[in-house]
Amino acid sequence: METIVSGIRPTGHLHLGNYFGAVRNFVKLQENNNCYFFVADYHSLTTHPEAEDLKEKVKTVIIEFLASGLDPEKATLYIQSDVEEVTELYLLLNMFAYKGELERTASFKEKARKQPNNVNAGLLTYPVLMAADILIHKATKVPVGKDQEQHLEMTRNFAKRFNNFYNTKIFPEPQAYNFGHDLIKVPGLDGTGKMGKSDNNGIYLIDDAKTIKKKIMRAVTDAGPEKDKPMSEGVKNLFTLMELVSEADTVKYFREQYYNLTIRYGDMKKQLAEDMEKFIAPIRERIKELESNKDYINKILKQGSGKAKESASRTIKEVREVIGFYNTLK
Ligand code: TYM
Repeated sequence: METIVSGIRPTGHLHLGNYFGAVRNFVKLQENNNCYFFVADYHSLTTHPEAEDLKEKVKTVIIEFLASGLDPEKATLYIQSDVEEVTELYLLLNMFAYKGELERTASFKEKARKQPNNVNAGLLTYPVLMAADILIHKATKVPVGKDQEQHLEMTRNFAKRFNNFYNTKIFPEPQAYNFGHDLIKVPGLDGTGKMGKSDNNGIYLIDDAKTIKKKIMRAVTDAGPEKDKPMSEGVKNLFTLMELVSEADTVKYFREQYYNLTIRYGDMKKQLAEDMEKFIAPIRERIKELESNKDYINKILKQGSGKAKESASRTIKEVREVIGFYNTLK
């Protein structure tokens, strides 16, 4: 049994990247591990959301966690800001995070490019807050998509530096994790890069059959396969998505069609849209059911936050001890 921690920012509905990169792993891991899964609302403040909007989106992520199969009896589900201990650890870890390495982080450089008028210190120290989320429960495994790999490496560095300086073994060295495989990057429908909220190239767990079909039929492909020409990015992405939701035989069939140059992308897309709808429909139905069940959601969150706080305060107590705080109120 290992301790597992992971979080998702409340930026709207979850897309297939979130699902296959993270949530699918949560559901499997909850069966026989000590799991903490949370909504990373502190992290979302770097982009300055409106208060009402933030509340709504936090609720959305919790509902979609549950609809995807997270079981509050098996895993601890909570909201990051309910566990203030995280902010204390964040402050303490900041002493072991260096300006140069923070400035070189890929996610920081990308955000600084995307929002040049709001390059705030929260953005710079984002990986430190993430390390605090993970280390506060002494997690050993962190189920995330490929885009978070560098943050995990930084988490290990902060943990090692803290341990070395205080000559302690308080923190483990957590590893990024994907069930049985390398970390994954779910591609978008626009032929480039990963599926992402801000790139408007995704399929969401809330999408209905018509929306799914429309999006897939519009996905970027090419003029058709040609002998000795490498597969285009757009077509590769369609195959990757198909591998996630379709039967192995279906994927095999279309791959063969591609390599003998007879494939019609329209047929492949139709099949993919059908399989995607089959996959998403039950999750979407559960989202709809849960949306009207506010009391149940609040009950779960209260219970989860309580459990998460217990674990977090245990760690903070140890950390305060090794740092040598005077601790007048003890
Ligand atoms: P966030 O909110 O951007 O994404 C949540 C999770 O979804 C994964 N993901 C993807 N995986 C594969 N393919 C994609 N196209 C794709 N898009 C998103 C992300 O890798 C992530 O696992 N910093 C984190 C949230 C966080 C966190 C933590 C995670 C805060 N504290 C502690 C783990 C542990 C983030 O912004 O994820």
